[in-house]
Amino acid sequence: MKKQLQFNTIVIGSGLAGLANALRLAEQGQKVAVITKKTLAECNSFYAQGGIAAVVDVNDSMENHISDTLIAGGELCDEKTVRFIIENAPEAIKWLVSMGVNFTPDEHSSTGFHLTREGGHSFRRILHAADATGEAIITKLIQKSLSHPNIKVFENHVAIDLILGSKINKNTNKCFGVYVLNNITNKVIPIAAHNTILATGGAGKVYLYTTNPDIATGDGIAMAYRAGCNITNMEFIQFHPTCLFHPKAKSFLISEAVRGEGGILKLPNGYRFMQDHDERLELAPRDIVARAIDFEMKKHGLEYIYLDISYKSQAFIEEHFPNIYHKCKSLGIDIAHEPIPVVPAAHYTCGGIATNLFGQTNIEHLYAIGECAHTGLHGANRLASNSLLECLVIGQAAVKNILQTPHEDFLELPPWDESQVCDNDEAVVIAHNWDELRRTMWSYVGIVRTNKRLERALHRIKLLNSEIHEYYSNFKLSLDLIELRNLVCVAELIVKSAQLRKESRGLHYSKDFIGKLDYIQNTILNKKECEL
Ligand code: FAD
Ligand code: SIN
Repeated sequence: MKKQLQFNTIVIGSGLAGLANALRLAEQGQKVAVITKKTLAECNSFYAQGGIAAVVDVNDSMENHISDTLIAGGELCDEKTVRFIIENAPEAIKWLVSMGVNFTPDEHSSTGFHLTREGGHSFRRILHAADATGEAIITKLIQKSLSHPNIKVFENHVAIDLILGSKINKNTNKCFGVYVLNNITNKVIPIAAHNTILATGGAGKVYLYTTNPDIATGDGIAMAYRAGCNITNMEFIQFHPTCLFHPKAKSFLISEAVRGEGGILKLPNGYRFMQDHDERLELAPRDIVARAIDFEMKKHGLEYIYLDISYKSQAFIEEHFPNIYHKCKSLGIDIAHEPIPVVPAAHYTCGGIATNLFGQTNIEHLYAIGECAHTGLHGANRLASNSLLECLVIGQAAVKNILQTPHEDFLELPPWDESQVCDNDEAVVIAHNWDELRRTMWSYVGIVRTNKRLERALHRIKLLNSEIHEYYSNFKLSLDLIELRNLVCVAELIVKSAQLRKESRGLHYSKDFIGKLDYIQNTILNKKECEL
């Protein structure tokens, strides 16, 4: 029999949360496995454009950043968490710089960095690497991870489910590792670990239109839910106001920094409609801008609206937004001379696996970091560029906690049981269900919600759920099937959370409950109380 694979820590995911944690743990002598379902670079983090928010300018203050985060979050943020993350932001930036990340410099600034601005920020405080910040960060961290002797990378490996005490006849609320599908050989193996970190990112792919790459299927959230974790505030899905509208550009974001540097939102007749919606105009928090665009598109029967930065010089645009400029140019849009057609699209999952400030879940030895987690930082609407920051600060705290927490010896994990399944005969079922699920979510659980739409969505999701479950129980696993099973679970969590919130707050806007309640409440779902 082949020897069981075992590590001090398994990190599931190779985005910023995953790689930063793997590197920090490896530096402390831990043997770390990084499991990632495609290539290392295929993650939301790689596509981050605008940058990372931190108070580095002496004229800015922690209190400003904290207050901006709380205002954007619709009074639902956890203030202790907000303070902790924002106060540790400068340290996180130093760590990235020590890893070799080159943020765009500015010789005229006392900070040495060019700081940009995005919606909801009262000050220029976003460090960035032109308009491809994620690529600059992830490329460096990949280089470091691949050359680290304590890190073993498993690309094309998909985590299926966590291995808990119940699986090995132990009456404990602990995580002992994970079952993983090798997507090349199609074999499933158990991997054992003292600690497991979910760094699996968000669930943008549950919607038909999204800025997220294909990996964003909510796997970690679904795995954690099935394992018995609390899942918090899933109704708050952030729609980014400006995704490029073009038949050949799937999911291409036009950074909020374009508005931060003066970009104006317009109707086709040139009217600057944000003046009718919010005094902060294009730099109002994202929920407000996305809702305003949705309103104007529906009112005028438009497929898209325009974002216009063409009044700035070509040199300015090429210097600040080279990635966006060249991408649009390749599609025949010269943003230095014409406005950009844009639409809102699903962008960020504000809710997720409930954790404390050390990234700990309610299952022992199981951590969740980054977009898959809910720490309380984002409340009802995330402030732009706070998410990369959260990955780093909570990740650092989790590392300290892991190093201090005693653990048992490795246990022998049972092999994956495939005796009851046969080869998948009709892949078309999976493709059809994916499409139906994403359309349902887009049509009924989008920017503006109603009780009736949510009911319709839940009805369809339940039918899909039972069909997918049956398929999952009878056929051999594939990446698509694993992802679909997770997506349908996450869709149900989103709809059920939305139904529980009887108010409009932040990103959750319901025509049946206009206005906020006068008390604050998180929506918490747990398998024990709500079987999906
Ligand atoms: P990700 O970076 O998404 O990584 C998730 C990883 O988990 C991937 O490697 C994936 O393959 C892996 N994975 C998932 N499921 C499994 C599984 N079952 N088995 C194995 N591996 C799995 N935020 C900012 O703060 N600033 C920005 O400028 C910014 N710009 C953005 C631009 C775009 C286009 C997008 C989409 C998001 C942007 N965000 C930005 C949000 C931010 O990028 C993400 O929230 C953040 O990168 C999440 O990092 P993460 O490590 O949690 O997840
Ligand atoms: C952007 O560049 O607009 C994305 C920033 C973010 O999502 O925080």
